[in-house]
Amino acid sequence: QDKSVQVKLVLLGEAAVGKSSLVLRFVSNDFQANKEPTIGAAFLTQKCRLEDRTLRYEIWDTAGQERFHSLAPMYYRNAQAAVVVYDVTKAASLEKAKSWVKELQRQANPNIVIALAGNKLDLVQSSSPPTPTSPSFEDDEADDATATPGETPDSPEGSTNETLRQVPTDEAQAYATEASLLFFETSAKTGEGVVELFTEIAKKIPID
Ligand code: GTP
Ligand code: MG
Repeated sequence: QDKSVQVKLVLLGEAAVGKSSLVLRFVSNDFQANKEPTIGAAFLTQKCRLEDRTLRYEIWDTAGQERFHSLAPMYYRNAQAAVVVYDVTKAASLEKAKSWVKELQRQANPNIVIALAGNKLDLVQSSSPPTPTSPSFEDDEADDATATPGETPDSPEGSTNETLRQVPTDEAQAYATEASLLFFETSAKTGEGVVELFTEIAKKIPID
């Protein structure tokens, strides 16, 4: 007999931040480089084993495109958990995430467990360690004729991709703490942080 508790979880966030990809990684340990946008919503289930119990997530993966916004309440109504996703390379997606959190805190179940996930972490990570001799691009002479305003110099071999990052970790963490959210940075592509995200949510679901 299946004694696992069912937990309704909804994913929300701007289009293309990687909601469906996070679910695909969690449910099938897979990734698709050209995942098609979700239409309406998708439903998937996945068990989540904790030390003392097993939960069965019933996951509603919503569509981020604005034309589907009005459907969202159907999916977050009665949800016990929500993952609000943004893209660490897109500052505007954090603003959208904040507006989803506000909507959830106003309209959803008051006991809902909300996690904020900064996805696409792989895009801001280095593929190899940074070189200690990496050149500095700071220049005191503002009129330097060789400087090209608005253009980033080519990254030296082994440098990080931190220039792609638009949302600093500590800024998102501070917001999450203030709004009482769990917070993770994730990569659906590499899998980093994904199991941790769903496991930490599961631990916060009250046993009744
Ligand atoms: P909607 O369904 O339209 O709301 O989008 P979504 O939030 O479900 O995004 P989706 O999972 O479809 O991902 C959008 C694109 O980003 C796809 O091409 C994915 O392959 C890519 N993507 C998703 N997650 C990651 C990630 O962690 N890293 C990288 N590099 N690409 C990702
Ligand atoms: Mg999707």
